[in-house]
Amino acid sequence: MNVTDSIKYIGVYDKDLDLFEGQYPLSHGVTYNSYMIMDEKIAIMDTVDRRGKDAWLANLEKALAGRNPDYLIVSHMEPDHGACVQIAAKKYPHMKIVGNVKTFTMIDEYFELNDQTKRVLVKEGDTLELGKHILQFMMAPMVHWPEVMMTYDQTENILFSADAFGTFYDDTHPWINEARRYYTNIVGKYGLQVKNVLKKAQKLKIDMICPLHGPVLKEDIAQYIRYYELWSTYTPEESGILIACASIHGHTMEAAQILASLLEEQGEKVILRDLSRTDVSYVIADAFMYDRIVLAASSYDGGVFCPMEQFIHHLKSKNFQNRSIAFIENGTWAPSANKAMKEVLDCLKGLDYMEPSITIRGALKEESVEELKSLAKIIMEGGCIDEVCV
Ligand SMILES: Cc1cc2nc3c(=O)[nH]c(=O)nc-3n(C[C@H](O)[C@H](O)[C@H](O)COP(=O)(O)O)c2cc1C
Ligand SMILES: [Fe+2]
Ligand SMILES: [Fe+2]
Repeated sequence: MNVTDSIKYIGVYDKDLDLFEGQYPLSHGVTYNSYMIMDEKIAIMDTVDRRGKDAWLANLEKALAGRNPDYLIVSHMEPDHGACVQIAAKKYPHMKIVGNVKTFTMIDEYFELNDQTKRVLVKEGDTLELGKHILQFMMAPMVHWPEVMMTYDQTENILFSADAFGTFYDDTHPWINEARRYYTNIVGKYGLQVKNVLKKAQKLKIDMICPLHGPVLKEDIAQYIRYYELWSTYTPEESGILIACASIHGHTMEAAQILASLLEEQGEKVILRDLSRTDVSYVIADAFMYDRIVLAASSYDGGVFCPMEQFIHHLKSKNFQNRSIAFIENGTWAPSANKAMKEVLDCLKGLDYMEPSITIRGALKEESVEELKSLAKIIMEGGCIDEVCV
C-alpha cells in the first residue's frame, strides 16, 4: 500500500488481539504501523509487535524489491513497535539503527545487538538526508514513554508521530471514538508533555500524519490537532454529564437512572455507565469528553464499592483535571462511599465539587427523589461550557 509515491505502508493488522497493553479491550484489533521511505537511501520507520513479525518481514521484503534498507528509525521502543529491531538488524546487517540516547538504552535492555550493528545517534532538530527526503527529528519525551521521538519529513510535510494520533482499529465508527479512548487511557497522564510537542508541531506545515496505530491521517489535520489540544489540557469537548455508577444491589443505580431522566428532560446530554459492566477505559474516555461527572456508588466495607474505586484510581492515574463533580452514595450501616471517593480525588487539580452530596440509605424514598431533583438543578448550573468545542 502506498502512502505517497515514495512512502509505502508495511505495517500489520492484528485482528485477533483481545487486550491492548494487557488491559484495554479491543473490538476490532489494532494495527502496528510501519512505513518505508524509498529514496536514494531507504529508511524503515519502526518495526512491529512480535505477533506481527512474519507478516512484517514479508511486507518489508516485498516493498524492498531486492534493495537493502539503509536506516531503521526507531520512534518508540515499546514492544508493540520495537519487538523486531533485533531480527531486522540481523537480517539486514548493513542497516543503521537511528535513535536517541534513551532509545539505545532501551534497545540494550530488550536486546543484545551484534557489535557490528551501526548506531546513528540523533537529538532534537537533527536531520537525516535520504536523497530528496530530509528527515528532521523531534523529541517527544513521555508521550508516552521517555525515549519517544517523532520524525518530520520536510520534503513531503509528513509527521511520523509515534503513538500520538494513533487509534485502535475500528472502521465501523469514526476515528474520534477509539482515538479518544486510546489517547485518554494510554497518553492521558502526560498532558503537559503532549502540549510541549504540539507547540513544536505548530511551527511545521503538516499535510499528513503517519501514526504507529490506526489510519494515516490525510485530511483536515487541524481537527486532529484540535482534539489533542483539548485532551492534553483536560478541557471538555462537549457540554454533557457522565453518570458513572457502581451499585451492589441496584438501589444506587435506580437513583442514577432517575437523575439521568431528570437531566435529559431538561435537554442535557447524559451518558449513564454501569461500572460493573463497562470496561473502565470507555468511562475514562467519557470523563475526558464531558464537562460534568456524577459519581454514584454503594458503600463497601468502610470504603467505596470496588468498580468505583477502580474507576477513580484510573482518573487519578490519568492526572485528570478541570471538571465539576457530584457525588451520590448509598449505605445502610455507616455510609462511607462519598468520603472514600473524595479522599482519592482531593489531590487532583481543578475539580469543583457540586455540593451537597447525596446519601441514600437502602431503598429510595420520596425524600431521596427530592434530593435528586435538587442535585439535577445544581448540576445544570454547574456546566462550564455552553457549546460544543470542536
Ligand atoms: C460486601 C458489602 C459491604 C458493605 N459495606 C458497607 C459499608 O461499609 N457501609 C455501609 O453503609 N453499607 C455497606 N454495605 C451495605 C450497602 O451499602 C447496602 O446494601 C446498599 O443498599 C447498597 O446500595 P445498592 O443497592 O446500590 O448496592 C455493604 C454491603 C455489602 C454487600
Ligand atoms: Fe506506546
Ligand atoms: Fe503503540
